Amino acid sequence: MVEISRGLEDVLIKTTSLTFIDGHHGVLRYRGYDINDLVEHSSYEELIYLMLYGELPNRKQLNEVKAKLNENYEVPEQVINAIYSLPRNCDAIGIMESAFGIMASVYNPKWDKEKDRDNAIQIIAKTATVVANVFRAKEGLKPKMPSPSQSYAKSFLEASFDRKVGEKEIKAMDAALILYTDHEVPASTTAGLVASSTFSDMYSCIVAALAALKGPLHGGAAEEAFKQFVEIGSPDKVDEWFKINIVEGRKRLMGFGHRVYKTYDPRAKIFKKLAQQLSQENPEIKKYLEIAERLEKLGIETFGSKGIYPNTDFYSGIVFNGLGFPIYMYTALFALSRTLGWLAHFIEYVEEQHRLIRPRALYVGPEYKHYVPVDKR
Ligand code: ACO
Repeated sequence: MVEISRGLEDVLIKTTSLTFIDGHHGVLRYRGYDINDLVEHSSYEELIYLMLYGELPNRKQLNEVKAKLNENYEVPEQVINAIYSLPRNCDAIGIMESAFGIMASVYNPKWDKEKDRDNAIQIIAKTATVVANVFRAKEGLKPKMPSPSQSYAKSFLEASFDRKVGEKEIKAMDAALILYTDHEVPASTTAGLVASSTFSDMYSCIVAALAALKGPLHGGAAEEAFKQFVEIGSPDKVDEWFKINIVEGRKRLMGFGHRVYKTYDPRAKIFKKLAQQLSQENPEIKKYLEIAERLEKLGIETFGSKGIYPNTDFYSGIVFNGLGFPIYMYTALFALSRTLGWLAHFIEYVEEQHRLIRPRALYVGPEYKHYVPVDKR
């Protein structure tokens, strides 16, 4: 009997020097550096260099990354036109797919070892412009380009909002960018890898990755997790909601469970801390945090023994909400930071271990059948 790897569970499709996950001990490292150390001491610009070039940058290399980002926020005018011409109720990831589809046509970069990393940094810069303007278009605001700055998080937040953003917000955005950067080969990265294995251009590979990210079992979970908190409404209603929906209704608790982590997701711990910091000055965030913390307790009591714990999406929505982003933007914000992880994996695959990804399917349909013309059926 031939065995089918349903969901490709535990199938190894590549080697990687990018991300190490220990799902049983809740460890996540990028190129050997622990996620906690990176959030505490590093920045997203450092991480861009680390992921693409393999080492932490020295001062000169870091300044070069910042300069390249600052030089590349511009996107083709067709991208801005498309983003603002779509109805405001269009899905944020759908709009991103359109924007990247247009850039794939306009730029169509060929794979080239000498240029891949530069192209990747250009794409990361343009992603900030796209995501900020997806938000602005959906809010009925006018287009705005990120301004050059020392921080990608700052340029992005200032392009998104028409207000001054504080240091605490910039630090939280920077941390969120780091936390969502990479997670080995989940569905989105794998979808993009399949596209990259055909030597499709980097922008098109991102369209493939976005399509897989969009679903509620992957990137869409942050939105679904936060919707739960909104539906519950207040901390004193958590227990009843949990009993009716999760215990008796047998619905899945969104933001809980993970294919790889069988313990508390280390990113969720950091997002929880960030949410706690943002909640100090924001009573709305404090309320959602209290709901989430009670839900977490019930969730772990019920599912902990099965290895089902909070994942990164459980608290991230509270952080994004605290920064001023509505629910519909959460998956797009995930994509904003994951673009770096996707690109680093595509480059690693194409440059070091390329082979066309073309699996097989076991045919279980009917044997040969005679064709019957339509009027004789
Ligand atoms: N709530 C309740 N039960 C759950 C949950 C959950 N969140 N997650 C898994 N289970 C249960 C399943 O019902 C199943 O139970 P059974 O064996 O009694 O039938 C068992 O755990 C195994 O579930 P699978 O779906 O087979 O496990 P898988 O490894 O595919 O699960 C997944 C991973 C899809 C993420 C799942 O935990 C889930 O649906 N979680 C909710 C959605 C979510 O938060 N997704 C975000 C993932 S993180 C990310 O993408 C960044």
